[in-house]
Amino acid sequence: MNNCIVVTGGAGFIGSNFVNAWVQLGLGKVVNLDKLTYAGNLENLSAIQENDNHVFVQADIGDREVIAELLKTHQPKAILNFAAESHVDRSIHAPGEFIQTNIVGTFNLLEEVRAYWNALADDDQKNFRFLHVSTDEVYGSLTASDPAFKETNPYEPNSPYSASKAASDHLVRAYHHTYAMPMLTTNCSNNYGPYHFPEKLIPLVIHNALNGKDLPIYGDGSNVRDWLYVGDHCSAIRRVLEAGKIGETYNIGGWNEMSNLEVVHTLCDMLDKQRPKESGSYRDQITYVTDRPGHDQRYAIDATKIERELGWKPAETFETGIQKTVAWYLDNQQWVDNVTSGEYQKWVGKNYQTREGA
Ligand code: NAD
Ligand code: DAU
Repeated sequence: MNNCIVVTGGAGFIGSNFVNAWVQLGLGKVVNLDKLTYAGNLENLSAIQENDNHVFVQADIGDREVIAELLKTHQPKAILNFAAESHVDRSIHAPGEFIQTNIVGTFNLLEEVRAYWNALADDDQKNFRFLHVSTDEVYGSLTASDPAFKETNPYEPNSPYSASKAASDHLVRAYHHTYAMPMLTTNCSNNYGPYHFPEKLIPLVIHNALNGKDLPIYGDGSNVRDWLYVGDHCSAIRRVLEAGKIGETYNIGGWNEMSNLEVVHTLCDMLDKQRPKESGSYRDQITYVTDRPGHDQRYAIDATKIERELGWKPAETFETGIQKTVAWYLDNQQWVDNVTSGEYQKWVGKNYQTREGA
């Protein structure tokens, strides 16, 4: 085996933050396999474009021939599976791709990794890791008084997205129990930060605010999410890869629950200071629209296990993380313009034009 890891989905939001950090920290070679769907963008990797420690391969995680060849050629010591269809609203409009990538794709990837791992020498088998990046949404929805999700919570996914992620988590679990493969799973809360595609709440609100568009709040805005800065998610994944116990799952979160309305108000107030409008506040652009079907009310992560067992804690507070994020979007308008041209407009039409109030 080489000092090389394979990352799938490394041209997306979290994957590209992870790959950039891995290469820039000098942690070794990364083979980055990504299909480049609408959510994948090579521009996210421009900082490491010329770096010999970054090898990009455009392919589907379900393409077994490509995966087999790539494993044979690069002999990685670990595979980190970030690749997924990730947007809940898209999974409601068109669940098929979610089943295909998140379930069937993960299955095909696992099968090729199993063949590769089986053929490794004993020591290499012991040292190998497959880390599956998952979400807190698999645990379902909490009421205001429920305790936060622990790793022992039952799976109760409510959307086609979370159901497809739950299915992939179960496959990963089964490959450990059945074949004794060295698997790790992480379940993380809502990320935010640079390269976040503006279909998701935080970058959508920044983008719409600056362009004088409505800031669409689903339902009454009382839904609660736990927000974690993406750099902290990446450091948690590195820590789990380094020290996580094989076969275990780790919840990752920011201890930072906020209602959607609080998040949007925070963003408006920051933009009011940093990019004041000629008159009025960005809050004036807030519009309440028809709720997301089956909208989970609250997610909250109990991240005690990763803190106690692996000594990981987030470095950013929401205040510091959101400052960095807003600054990044203000400084990278060209990136936003590039990703919001073309296909993006069709999605915005499909998702928002049918919502009352929009
Ligand atoms: P994203 O949608 O921004 O990026 C997904 C990436 O996967 C894209 O680059 C896309 O091109 C690629 N991809 C999609 N289908 C593929 C396929 N069949 N083969 C190869 N590549 C494919 O997603 P993200 O927000 O960066 O999320 C990454 C992972 O983290 C996902 O597994 C997601 O479920 C999980 N996660 C996300 C969050 C969050 O807040 N965004 C929180 C917890 C967990
Ligand atoms: O919890 C982790 C999950 O977080 C990840 O697994 C998903 O990949 C990621 O997309 C995210 O899912 P959410 O559905 O929580 O994120 P989103 O940004 O789409 O929405 C956040 C909240 O804001 C949610 O309650 C819905 C609401 N919302 C979203 C959009 C896009 C709005 O009110 N208006 C909007 O226009």
